[in-house]
Amino acid sequence: MENFTLSNGLSIPASGYGTGIANGISHHPLRIIKRLIKETAKRILRPGSLDGSHYTLAKDFRKDRMLKTVARTIAQNGCRLFDTARAYSQSESYLREAFGGWQGDFHREDFFIITKATNRAQREHTVMADLEASLANLGTDYVDLYLLHWPQEGAYLDSWKVMEEIYASGKAKAIGVCNCHVHHLEALMSVAQVAPMVDELECHPFLQQHEVRDYCRAHNIQLIAHTPTGKMSSSGSDVLRGISARLGVGVSQVILRWHYQMGDVSIPNSTNPEHALQNMNIWGFELTDDDMNAIRGLDCGKRIWPDPDNCDFNKL
Ligand SMILES: NC(=O)c1ccc[n+]([C@@H]2O[C@H](COP(=O)([O-])OP(=O)(O)OC[C@H]3O[C@@H](n4cnc5c(N)ncnc54)[C@H](OP(=O)(O)O)[C@@H]3O)[C@@H](O)[C@H]2O)c1
Repeated sequence: MENFTLSNGLSIPASGYGTGIANGISHHPLRIIKRLIKETAKRILRPGSLDGSHYTLAKDFRKDRMLKTVARTIAQNGCRLFDTARAYSQSESYLREAFGGWQGDFHREDFFIITKATNRAQREHTVMADLEASLANLGTDYVDLYLLHWPQEGAYLDSWKVMEEIYASGKAKAIGVCNCHVHHLEALMSVAQVAPMVDELECHPFLQQHEVRDYCRAHNIQLIAHTPTGKMSSSGSDVLRGISARLGVGVSQVILRWHYQMGDVSIPNSTNPEHALQNMNIWGFELTDDDMNAIRGLDCGKRIWPDPDNCDFNKL
């Protein structure tokens, strides 16, 4: 497993696992009932709008349940970086449970755990309390990297002051942001006492983020690629399939290797243990300059997630 080094000297694994499987799923009985009613109404009014024979809620819960199994399997096989968030359903608690509350075979100090403050916490000025809740969920007294989940308009610059306090307290060994464009980073840099060490943003062959990438490189900010395979949206590309066939590896491995060679940390998600193990295996082969240039040509600015300049932060 390779590592990169953050601006404060902290070592971060170059590849890990993202736990945002069923983003936003609530386990609260009232919310579950509300969603079932909504899905039933949708089924009756627009019968073709839900895929297959089951409800999307059931599918989300099934995926949600896989998290512990997959996390444990890949940790047993050497995965050390896990990305979670308060916004990802119960995933922080699931990680604690997957690792036996850090009491058995898994030792907290061997892992690099990332979690994030919600947009709501930013709006309500409760980022510190959000971190405390995350620490309780994760069963730890520190996180390796704490992030602001989105550049919540009107709040993220003030929230950053709290992030700096958190960093000074030692409860986060590094701090950073997510989903920031260059203008967000510039605004932040103009007020920050401690510069963000990371920008975690959507990045994959169809959305290569060269502008932010160049800014980050110039300011020693590590890019973490979330949605690093673009949910495999580019898996049909002839370029990727050609490289994958020549090297005898999967398309996802080609994409994750491309991230590594671009200098990105990547955090792919999978609910399938075999896929997750495959995604860890990106070290025994190399992309040529021609491969890298060909993949560069796939960039078309296609987003999976909302553009942070044009989104409803209440829904993220
Ligand atoms: N900071 C933020 O704002 C933010 C936003 C979004 C996401 N994230 C983080 O990024 C992580 C990953 O994002 P994501 O799940 O949206 O996108 P992703 O990792 O690019 O894509 C996941 C999808 O790709 C499929 N897949 C993965 N590996 C595969 C393989 N080897 N073969 C075939 N299919 C494969 C998975 O299906 P299977 O389950 O069938 O394998 C799943 O449908 C999240 O879990 C979260 O931690 C952060």
